[in-house]
Amino acid sequence: MDPVTLNVSPETVERAITPHTRALLPVHLYGHPVDLDPMLALARRRGIPLVEDACQAIGAQYKGRPVGVLSGMGALSFYPTKNLGAFGDGGAVVVDDPEVAARLRRLRNGGQSDRYHHEVAGINSRLDEMQAALLRAKLGHLAAWTDRRRALAARYGEGLRDAGVEIPVEQPYARAVYHLYVIRHPRRDALAAALRERGIGTLVHYPIPLHLQRAFAELGRKRGDFPVAERAAAEILSIPLFPEMTDGQAEAVIRAIREVAPGLR
Ligand SMILES: Cc1ncc(COP(=O)(O)O)c(C=O)c1O
Repeated sequence: MDPVTLNVSPETVERAITPHTRALLPVHLYGHPVDLDPMLALARRRGIPLVEDACQAIGAQYKGRPVGVLSGMGALSFYPTKNLGAFGDGGAVVVDDPEVAARLRRLRNGGQSDRYHHEVAGINSRLDEMQAALLRAKLGHLAAWTDRRRALAARYGEGLRDAGVEIPVEQPYARAVYHLYVIRHPRRDALAAALRERGIGTLVHYPIPLHLQRAFAELGRKRGDFPVAERAAAEILSIPLFPEMTDGQAEAVIRAIREVAPGLR
């Protein structure tokens, strides 16, 4: 794992590949692109398909090109809290192979190739028209909303640079879209409590690393196996960032953090 972006790194992925590995699935976490070229080279070298999880990163760019379409297969989420959010659940997959696209269209519609002709056992994963209409209207605003997210992130970057917290660092290959603005502090819970007292809500994305989730207990991983992820899970804190946020609100968050973070040791 890259300890700065918290994105998966090619070295970690390569070590984890087994004969059972069906695909590589790097996540552009928090809206910051994965360093994709080494990952794509690895996938090619090992003959394994790579699917980008761009659910948090719609509009982000890697070396000037949009993420989600760089490997030929990518996933987007339109969950309401996402940068482009529907009123309910929704999502999209992006593929450049027409055969894969046709297969996915069948799978999402109960496996039907034609009405009532099921070629495979599919699922119901259609995007309903109401969500589609809303998303189409919102899509036109996405670029401006992304610019606003980036402007707020820049403001945070200035205001929090020497505030006693670690702040996200945009890598030279990346144009991040700041789905989340995640800072770090060794006394995260105390910082969150102090901010809450000042009327500032925060969240933790995410408090429990995958290998410590009960759902994956059968994989036999234990605490200590992924120290970077474990330390991050204990220190990360998402502070408010959304396109409608005013400069004044951002300044209030900065002031509050500057007031409390340095004293927490
Ligand atoms: C990185 C990432 N991948 C996948 C998903 C799943 O998307 P959905 O909830 O639309 O299925 C989400 C968010 O929910 C996400 O943040």
